[in-house]
Amino acid sequence: MGGAVTGGLVDRFGRVHRDLRISLTDRCSLRCTYCMPADGVPWLASATLLSTDELVRLARVAVGLGVRSVRLTGGEPLLRPDVVDVVRALAGLRTPDAPLELSLTTNALRLPELAAPLREAGLARVNISLDTLRADRFVELTRRDRLADTLAGIEAAKAAGLAPVKLNALVMRGVNDDEIADLVEFAIDRGLEMRFIEHMPLDAGHTWRRESMVTGEEILGAVSERFALEPLGHDGSAPATLFRIVGTAATVGVIASVTGAFCERCDRVRLTADGQFRNCLFAHEESDLRTLMRDGADDARLADAMRACVASKRRGHGIDDPTFVQPARPMSAIGG
Ligand code: 5AD
Ligand code: SF4
Repeated sequence: MGGAVTGGLVDRFGRVHRDLRISLTDRCSLRCTYCMPADGVPWLASATLLSTDELVRLARVAVGLGVRSVRLTGGEPLLRPDVVDVVRALAGLRTPDAPLELSLTTNALRLPELAAPLREAGLARVNISLDTLRADRFVELTRRDRLADTLAGIEAAKAAGLAPVKLNALVMRGVNDDEIADLVEFAIDRGLEMRFIEHMPLDAGHTWRRESMVTGEEILGAVSERFALEPLGHDGSAPATLFRIVGTAATVGVIASVTGAFCERCDRVRLTADGQFRNCLFAHEESDLRTLMRDGADDARLADAMRACVASKRRGHGIDDPTFVQPARPMSAIGG
């Protein structure tokens, strides 16, 4: 996809950043135990949330710096009332020289009504969170009785032609680790792509324990009990290590963020719903683009701030360092 953009988003280690994750809201319609306490978290103040014009302006500056894919996240991005307009405006940033792939990470609850309009507005694909196929367990895990709605959302995404539909499951010991092969089977049967994620220390309740994390290796062991796997490596800068399920067209992926950190090929930067630019999920510093912009900064100044933020990116997340400290901002307010 072309070489480095002169003056693009390049860090000290030579990593070129082409993927921007934009959080559209920190709110969510579920309360996954690994993410939020039952009462939620203190929400971002509405005056600090970027307007759609502000958000699109920052995305345009990022595209000028070489960004070629934008993923919309949350919280739950489909809770933003004008999410279809956001997608349409972002699609409008595409030029023949700067193709821009648009994707979305969602819990799927609003996809039955939104999948088709989102596709029409220019969304290419979705990643849907699905940690369990059992209704009782879904209630325990998300504190909401919505499995049927999630499944309807998955069907809607397929029907709307959002492709590929990827399913993300966060695997937790003693919670859903007995469903790994069932989830793979569910995905194969429907032509979906299953991805398993290692649990990362990012939850608002600071409940993460290394012992309760199911490792990528354990996940693959569980898949292999039912399916033969052929290694495919990984796809460019994408975090998943992929395997073909022998005898099918399906792949399964493991995102071993903790035990198999992929920081060395990371090309991601993040913009929070309140306009903070982050060079890593685990960063402790943010660049306050909202204040800069509202104080009248021009695009060149915003571009400089983005570049400076990327220039200070650390080599890796350091979860294994004794000095590791979880970022103050919870995952739901960063964007996955
Ligand atoms: N570690 C790994 N993945 C997480 N997600 C949320 N919290 C964590 C965490 N602590 C995932 C969800 C969803 C996506 C938005 O991020 O499972 O798929
Ligand atoms: Fe919502 Fe995603 Fe957090 Fe679950 S993990 S509560 S779906 S933001």
